[in-house]
Amino acid sequence: MQSDEIRSKFLKFFESRGHKIIPSASLVPENDPSVLFTTAGMHPLVPYLMGEKHPLGKRLVNIQKCIRTGDIDEVGDYSHHTFFEMLGNWSLGDYFKKEVIEWSYEFLTSPEWLGLDKNRIAVSVFEGDPDSPFDDEAFEIWKSLGIDEKRIARLPKKNNWWGPAGVTGPCGPDTEMFYWVGDPKKIPETFNDDSPLWLEIWNDVFMQYDKNKDGKFEPLSQKNVDTGMGLERTLAVVNGLDDNYKSELFWPIIKKIEELSGKKYEDEKKAMRIIADHVKASTFILGDEKGIAPSNTGQGYVLRRLIRRAVRYGKQLGIKSFTGEIAKIIIDIYKNTYPELSSNKDFILKNLLEEGEKFEITLEHGLKEFEKGVDAFTLFTTYGFPVELTLELAREKSQTIDMEDFNKKMTEHQKLSQTSSAGMFKGGLADAGEETKKLHTATHLLRQALEDVLGEKIVQRGSNITAERLRFDFAFPRKVTDEERKKVEDIVNEKIQMKLPMQKVVMKREDAEKTGAEHVFGDKYGDEVSIYFVGNSLEDAYSKEFCGGPHVKNTGELGKFKIIKEEAVAQGIRRIKAVLL
Ligand code: SER
Repeated sequence: MQSDEIRSKFLKFFESRGHKIIPSASLVPENDPSVLFTTAGMHPLVPYLMGEKHPLGKRLVNIQKCIRTGDIDEVGDYSHHTFFEMLGNWSLGDYFKKEVIEWSYEFLTSPEWLGLDKNRIAVSVFEGDPDSPFDDEAFEIWKSLGIDEKRIARLPKKNNWWGPAGVTGPCGPDTEMFYWVGDPKKIPETFNDDSPLWLEIWNDVFMQYDKNKDGKFEPLSQKNVDTGMGLERTLAVVNGLDDNYKSELFWPIIKKIEELSGKKYEDEKKAMRIIADHVKASTFILGDEKGIAPSNTGQGYVLRRLIRRAVRYGKQLGIKSFTGEIAKIIIDIYKNTYPELSSNKDFILKNLLEEGEKFEITLEHGLKEFEKGVDAFTLFTTYGFPVELTLELAREKSQTIDMEDFNKKMTEHQKLSQTSSAGMFKGGLADAGEETKKLHTATHLLRQALEDVLGEKIVQRGSNITAERLRFDFAFPRKVTDEERKKVEDIVNEKIQMKLPMQKVVMKREDAEKTGAEHVFGDKYGDEVSIYFVGNSLEDAYSKEFCGGPHVKNTGELGKFKIIKEEAVAQGIRRIKAVLL
């Protein structure tokens, strides 16, 4: 079965059940500063999940192009991608669990639709916690459809809860569908969610809560359904493939890489998969209707890193200036479904070429120095070698990089290069170091205060500290009013007067992520990260962020905080400059 057939079957199935087709939105979300990219079909629908009326009614179906870089470390295996298409059907306060589960099962297994083997399907449901009870309703519906209890796992929030996409917004328990991709003669009776051979292919989310700013789950005014089926995975399993890269959405790309490199996929799976995946994601980002180009901030920065990573794996295969050749194949595969790729072809090829060639030179020098044992800071400042690449190389060689040392040197470096070039270097080095530490702590307070006052998640898009002032860039769609500015100042000054301790904890990245500490989307962190938090304990900290420091020991050291300027630096990006008096 070809991808086109799956796409059209999906739309037809739900159309015949009263759904209206909506087009894929851009990869760059509209009016949503909490995420850089559309990571699921639900983003463009958030206002309607929250209760606004959709012009096409209560039942919708779509195929959404998505970028998810959160899983970037998994790319290289047989089933994870940074770009993928999500097939979704939606109930906006209309049908709920019974209908959607029955339809999902029918679409997957009926010979008229995908005709998958019922005996290779397993599911999971939410086990319940203080926020929401065990989903016995979903459990019973699956049983009534003939799924054996041993194949219905009850799992916690970590597995069976979806959303919100940012920090606040619609979310709820879900039920996920898995397909056995291992040996068909050895299908286990019991489902085991740890086995990579049980591949998740579809997720039905019962969006009935709104997670608010305080982390509470409030019932939404309506009960919604949001489903997401991964096209690449579905295409593979429908065709009996145990590797997504062997399907028609990837295989021509892999063949091209084999041809250019003279190497075999069977010997170089990881590198070839990463190249195929990253060049595909880059082609879609460059070819998006919003026309994103590589840059040092936001979406452009993610794009830059995807291209650079592809180039780096290309070097491993011994190929250069290859991304354009691969992009042409990708455009060809998708030209009928996503015509924007053809219309933006020149832009895609030009940017891939320029970014790729620039980086090849950097890579050449940097790799040599890395081999000699040069440290991450020197590699970055002297050779322009990105720290995330140093981290990745170090991981491959089981070496560790002292990120705290790197961050400390970077802060110092930024301060020195700016103050000295501007001829403003006043105090001695120690004094200037003390000032930047204070301003760094103030930056953390500022980010949290902005979030409190503006009522939205504040995502940092850049920070720069000199001995004299802090500069903080963040995604926000409009000017911060004078009144809001005053409120932010008051909050920061109040936290200073409270003389709160600034403390550090170091923990495993997965655990650190669970604390809800602020961290930059898509950024690479080591396996161990430090969190700096303001307050007496991490649990009730006023601010907590992944950060390498340095910081002062107590907010009482900061003096008086004052915002001196608030301005736009780009569409949707505001900049605040502030001082401590
Ligand atoms: N939002 C859910 C997901 O991304 C279902 O579409 O998995």
